[in-house]
Amino acid sequence: MPGSSGDRQEVRQEAVGRLEFILAGGHMTDSTGKTAQLTIDGKTIDLPVLSGTEGPDVIDVGKLTSEGYFTYDPGFVSTASCDSDITYIDGGAGVLLHRGYPIEQLAEQSDHLELCYLLLNGDLPNREEKDRFVNTIKHHTMVHEQLVQLFRGFRRDAHPMAIMCGVTGALSAFYHDSLDIDDFHHRVVTAHRLIAKMPTLAAMSYKYSQGQPFMYPRNDLDYAENFLHMMFATPCADYEVNPVIARAMDRIFLLHADHEQNASTSTVRLAGSTGANPFACIAAGIAALWGPAHGGANEAVLNMLAEIGDEKNIDKYVKKAKDKDDPFRIMGFGHRVYKNYDPRAKVMQQTCHEVLGELGVEDDPILKMAQRLEKIALEDEYFVEKKLYPNVDFYSGIILKAIGIPTEMFTVIFATGRTPGWIAHWNEMISGPYKIGRPRQLYRGATKRDYVPLDRR
Ligand code: SDX
Repeated sequence: MPGSSGDRQEVRQEAVGRLEFILAGGHMTDSTGKTAQLTIDGKTIDLPVLSGTEGPDVIDVGKLTSEGYFTYDPGFVSTASCDSDITYIDGGAGVLLHRGYPIEQLAEQSDHLELCYLLLNGDLPNREEKDRFVNTIKHHTMVHEQLVQLFRGFRRDAHPMAIMCGVTGALSAFYHDSLDIDDFHHRVVTAHRLIAKMPTLAAMSYKYSQGQPFMYPRNDLDYAENFLHMMFATPCADYEVNPVIARAMDRIFLLHADHEQNASTSTVRLAGSTGANPFACIAAGIAALWGPAHGGANEAVLNMLAEIGDEKNIDKYVKKAKDKDDPFRIMGFGHRVYKNYDPRAKVMQQTCHEVLGELGVEDDPILKMAQRLEKIALEDEYFVEKKLYPNVDFYSGIILKAIGIPTEMFTVIFATGRTPGWIAHWNEMISGPYKIGRPRQLYRGATKRDYVPLDRR
């Protein structure tokens, strides 16, 4: 059994709770009874059509290989990699549901740890379940003291995402007691450890870059307050938590918690499908998230706004964004799935006004520039025709900068918020029947040829 007796007691209770019906039950997609017919060279192949509870039906192409074909879909634009009960996105309508609950309602009425419970367990907790879950997470927030030595090996100017990739993967070197992925209790305690320790590791990666001592978590603070404390308190002075800022921080974590089969979540699933331990899988997700086309976009938005420099330059940059030969893109704009306003961006924009208002910086020139850029882009036929709208990353960086979080920490915040989503998807896959992910290819290389000895080349 993993961890301390406290863990064992908590895990047993948890097993009695809702988690068991999710992890034991699994889930199947329903066959519609319909088939799609594929006719190639006069031969017709019947492919079953499956339907879920929301969203488009899918065509099960599993048997194509036995017919001598692969599907071809670079970037997986039209490919469903799995079935899942966790999150549903209707990109055309700008809808995001977590276990059926709309993100707007969760952002308004819930909090990040309650959403973590929902993503892991399939339903909202009652008061007793919520209190027990919050208490469990609180008592996992410290990291093994020897991890401090690991930090000491990094350069002080290392990008915090480089540190997070390293230390998260290294957690599997400290928690041998919970690495059996087939053990339900190990999966539960690992999920709790990851959700609890990511803010601690994130704050440590910041403190290390500042040359300041690490601050221990405090059990008298809630999740977001604790993170801000570990980021900004020092042994010489406490950090006075502003409730508006703490609420905004919690909402930023909540808005990033999950987003179905995005690149980093798909990476976690692919790594998990090999049987790798969950800490290694989450480290793989962090690495995938780092790219500017994905979770690195929030950092890229602030760098872009700094490059634009002044509102008078916006038209020039919008023109660059529309130029096929210019690699410049408006960061924080566009989305593979949303062809409407990202519902998270709307909540983020409202939170931005709350925070800047609370801090008395409503006329922040960077915010003004972002709003003007958004207005111009939303009225420009290029963006309208391509259905490019602000996404979750467009406003988040402006809030984080106003709170005092440096740009290079933005994707670390995204990774911290996304951890429950990653671990919920990993758990959903591992707890049911799954196969190792192994895509095929369209080979365009050299056909078979014989080796040519060096003296004859
Ligand atoms: C996240 O998948 C998720 O769910 C991700 C995420 C999550 O929560 O996990 O939502 C988080 O990653 C949000 C996205 C953050 N990235 C950015 O803001 C970077 C800027 N955006 C683009 O790089 C782009 O929009 C993507 C990567 C987000 C989506 O790329 P796609 O789906 O592959 O679409 P595409 O690149 O083929 O773009 C379609 C067209 C192209 O023009 P054409 O080739 O059709 O002529 O729109 C153009 C693109 O050139 N386009 C843009 C643009 N985004 C797309 N043109 C200018 N500025 C942009 N931002």
